[in-house]
Amino acid sequence: MSDPARITVFDTTLRDGEQAPGFSMDVPAKLAMAHALDRLGVDILEAGFPIASPADSEAVQQIALAVRRPVIAALARTRPQDIEEAARALAPAARSRIHTFLATSDLHLTAKLRMSRAECLDAAVDAVKLARRFTDDVEFSAEDATRSDRDFLCRIIEAVIEAGCTTVNLPDTVGYATPDEIREFFTDIIGRVPNAHRAVFSAHCHNDLGLAVANSLAAIQGGVRQVECAVNGIGERAGNASLEELVMALRVRQDRLPYDTVIQSDALFATSQLLSQVTAEPVQANKAIVGRNAFAHEAGIHQDGVLKDTRTYEIMRPEDVGQSATSRLVLGRHSGRHAVQSRCETLGFTLSIAEIDQVYRAVISLGEHRKAIADGDLRRIIDRIRTPAAAPASPGATHVEAIGYGHGV
Ligand code: KIV
Ligand code: ZN
Repeated sequence: MSDPARITVFDTTLRDGEQAPGFSMDVPAKLAMAHALDRLGVDILEAGFPIASPADSEAVQQIALAVRRPVIAALARTRPQDIEEAARALAPAARSRIHTFLATSDLHLTAKLRMSRAECLDAAVDAVKLARRFTDDVEFSAEDATRSDRDFLCRIIEAVIEAGCTTVNLPDTVGYATPDEIREFFTDIIGRVPNAHRAVFSAHCHNDLGLAVANSLAAIQGGVRQVECAVNGIGERAGNASLEELVMALRVRQDRLPYDTVIQSDALFATSQLLSQVTAEPVQANKAIVGRNAFAHEAGIHQDGVLKDTRTYEIMRPEDVGQSATSRLVLGRHSGRHAVQSRCETLGFTLSIAEIDQVYRAVISLGEHRKAIADGDLRRIIDRIRTPAAAPASPGATHVEAIGYGHGV
């Protein structure tokens, strides 16, 4: 029997993520990312949307050939050509999934697809049946599910499961839902659809209101056992649920969320950095888990706390997500004496109380002109303090000028 607390991670960095402006990747970049996602331990790797372009199809095929552990998924609309192209691209895979989707909300059906509900239901069922001819792992996504009529949505879910769909994904396509709503949505649907036990339910939450991770966690509490997410939270518009945030929320808050994934959390930072490199898009400094400030402290009170016991201001260890533990104390104008002294000791200097005081004041002064004080700066400050010639040239000279750091240095 499968573990009821085990959450399947469906990574869509190379599909939904790659679709976002500024994040497109060529085939070698996608391959490099696919290997990194494999090392990270994702269960399902959505490699692309093969009908979208020959390059997309080629990338899916190459990933299917080279990356053998995770299930490789490819996206397809319900049109037979889409499904056949997805199947062609996935042919070399050790394990493959065809992920077919169709919008189910009245807004999308009337305004975008000009389709009736009956036509929508038939197209979804036919697509699942066709996809099952190529693989026994078929996912159906009801695009804009959270804004769809609930009774119709239940009817279509029952029908696609009957047709052979093994994973039912109900996306919050426009990031409109709230956590309490999403939890109720999945609890209700899983309870109402008579054959729900024959499929895995999945959430795919967008981040338009900044709620994608909270909504995905609420969906898990509502019964889903697959979450769709992307590294650094990339994806259409404001992005998808961030993989690293989801994984660490489950790990850090086991007391409230007794579920887990098999993600190797110590590979999170390197994977995030690789994505940033191949897309030339920086990671926001204060991004949770993988941002460069996620474990950095400059304020004196915080530095003092972290030096005494890291748990005062850190709820997880940087090394658990692959960040360096040594770069966490940033010296700048908000720093305290304790952090300055600690960094000097790390650099091999044993200073007297008077020297620490001088170095501390020099760091604060220099911090007025610099974002951060590097180890080289600190070495130079100590050097100048310990060199008698560094005495103030004139009685009016400021301390910072006396040790060789004036404005604009
Ligand atoms: O956001 C969405 O609805 C999607 C589907 C194609 C799964 O990305
Ligand atoms: Zn999406």
